[in-house]
Amino acid sequence: MDDAIDGSRLDQSAQGLIGQPVDRYEGRLKVAGRAPYAYEAMQGGSVAYGAIVAAGFGPGRLISIDPKAALAAPGVLHVVIDDKAVRASADPGDDQPPRVDGLIVHTGQAVALVVAETFEVARHAATLVKLDVESEPGRYDLEAGQGNDIMPDGEDSSGATKGDFEAAFAAAEVQLDVIYATPSQSHSAMEPHAAIAEWQGDRLTVHCSNQLVASNTKQLAAALDIDPEKVRLITPYIGGGFGGKLGIGVESVYAALAAKTLGRPVKVALSRQQVYQMTSRRTDTLQRMRLGARSDGTLTAIAHDTWCGNLEEDPSAEPAGLSTVFLYAGDNRQVTHHVAPLDLLRPSAMRAPGEAVGMLALENAMDEMAEKLGLDPIEFRKRNEPEVNPQDGRPFSSRYLIDCMEEGAKRFGWDERPATPGSRRDGEWLIGYGMAAASRANMLQPSSAEVSLRPDGSATIKTDMTDIGTGSYTILAQTAGELLGLAVDRIDVQLGDSSLPKSSGSGGSFGAASSTSSVYVACLDLIGQLAAKLDVAPEQLTLKDGTAIAGNRQVALADLLAGETLTVEGTIEPGRTDEEYHQACYGAHFCEVAVSAVTGETRVKRMLSVCEAGRILNPKTATSQCYGGLIFGIGTALTEELVADKRTGLMVNHDLAEYHVPVNADVPQLEVVLLDRVDQLANPMAAKGIGELAISGAGAAITNAIYNACGVRVRSYPMTLDKVLAGLEKQSA
Ligand code: MOS
Repeated sequence: MDDAIDGSRLDQSAQGLIGQPVDRYEGRLKVAGRAPYAYEAMQGGSVAYGAIVAAGFGPGRLISIDPKAALAAPGVLHVVIDDKAVRASADPGDDQPPRVDGLIVHTGQAVALVVAETFEVARHAATLVKLDVESEPGRYDLEAGQGNDIMPDGEDSSGATKGDFEAAFAAAEVQLDVIYATPSQSHSAMEPHAAIAEWQGDRLTVHCSNQLVASNTKQLAAALDIDPEKVRLITPYIGGGFGGKLGIGVESVYAALAAKTLGRPVKVALSRQQVYQMTSRRTDTLQRMRLGARSDGTLTAIAHDTWCGNLEEDPSAEPAGLSTVFLYAGDNRQVTHHVAPLDLLRPSAMRAPGEAVGMLALENAMDEMAEKLGLDPIEFRKRNEPEVNPQDGRPFSSRYLIDCMEEGAKRFGWDERPATPGSRRDGEWLIGYGMAAASRANMLQPSSAEVSLRPDGSATIKTDMTDIGTGSYTILAQTAGELLGLAVDRIDVQLGDSSLPKSSGSGGSFGAASSTSSVYVACLDLIGQLAAKLDVAPEQLTLKDGTAIAGNRQVALADLLAGETLTVEGTIEPGRTDEEYHQACYGAHFCEVAVSAVTGETRVKRMLSVCEAGRILNPKTATSQCYGGLIFGIGTALTEELVADKRTGLMVNHDLAEYHVPVNADVPQLEVVLLDRVDQLANPMAAKGIGELAISGAGAAITNAIYNACGVRVRSYPMTLDKVLAGLEKQSA
């Protein structure tokens, strides 16, 4: 953060909005059906419908595309076969989405678009397009590819080493050396990837479903080879992103190409099956955890080595070891990531990339090691609490891991945990308790917002920030309301439009703190202008309920403005504290499970998480974010696995019926406790990112509870009943 901006104005403000459980700003629109998804933004009229043509098996070379049969179908208008056609969504770091360019890199890749008068005709005709493909042998198996590292030396930006791990591990009194496997996963947003494109002359407008408007606009312009100033993206209401909509997608590029040719708007939605086979996935991982400790429980050696897959052209890795770098003390450390070249759907960021799967391994290993040491898992973690970042020595901006564990243990009744695995039984059900730590990096991104005070004393916020179901509208309204002394219904929030000031967008849990901080900066300026009108210093001005109060004067804002509109753009960017302090948020998860001694089935009975993420801007939206994280934790532990056929690279379970996101019946009573501790070093709002905190570590609390219930350690996620049952059978053999 810029050290010129301090956050004290929030402490003195009189409106009392920040920290309140304000209802969703757009909630009414959502329940009334007036918050349309991208695909619904334009209905009927001259809109034509596109369906994406998917390649069969990959990899291979695309020799030719024959559209004749498709074009002959009644109602078909056009088949897009274009040099600019793209084969996948862009990654956030990509300048543009990768072009097809005669290549099929994985099974089910996008290669063309069929456009018709109706959706049904387009979808049918897409099956009539003939592809001539020269197939090549594919690599679909991470374990088989483990030896073929494509990450050049020294490129492991999220890795780190310190001291002499191998020597310390060899000399350790107590050692643990285990490998955990996590599967591919799919983001599975409720709203499929969709876009409507329309041209007015050389200007393009696209209604789409994307998380990062400013970079998505540039990516789309680059894909089409046009000036980004001519492109407008509109994405005000997004039905979930989870990282799967961080880059501009094939649907937007194809819709734009088709709309240009046809001279009418074109809408394109991926089918649910295509979402699973054509967008991106979280990579599967193999994670070797080695811990060495003295018999008193002091960790002396920590290693976390991860293997994951990616397309040969992309050496980037799932940064599974992110938290292992700093979470526990220990003088000798090693965190590495390795990438095997695979011809599967491209991996991307998904729901806490890094921590979400990395902490499964770390927190399972901590549980296993605690048992070896004969220590309670919380006590073991406390004995290895670092004073500063153990890797680079930087102080923590704030860290309340021990508080989270202690508060959670008390509320959960951790002291009633069965002391011996498999010792508590209720009929056929074996009962167990488990816990795990949570942590997620805190980031601030450059972000801008325009705030206007209108002559009637109401305010408008404009920024291209997105709300992916998280509560962005609400907390932005609260921030301006708090600072300007206005009720939430006096504030109009406009988001998700590339014609508005550029924001951080939604991703990496940085959206809330970054976007509200920019509003904070803008409001400080407005407060200064209002104070000047009353001829007082800003500190002497109180704004409350639409009035300005200074000394014994109280003036309605509308009177003070006297017909004027005040408009200010505020910008925040990371500064010194971002470098000088290690910033993360922390939490502790607790879980009770019942495991059937007969079938191996696990039922989560209850979960409780204590989360700390700096100032809590809105406990209702923050708690909802945490509920989502815990539910994803249940999915990770028990149900979610995107299965690639190792002979063909086909994602076999490519729909919501077979890719099991937890449903209500899988989710028990969840309790989330938020510790509200301001972190003045993070940003003016003193808030850290909470969106992805609760998923980090959550799955490990569940699987640690499975072990406590039945004494079976499964080191392969998800821990489905067949895997648990095999362990139970081994016990009784
Ligand atoms: Mo997030 S996985 O950066 O949407």
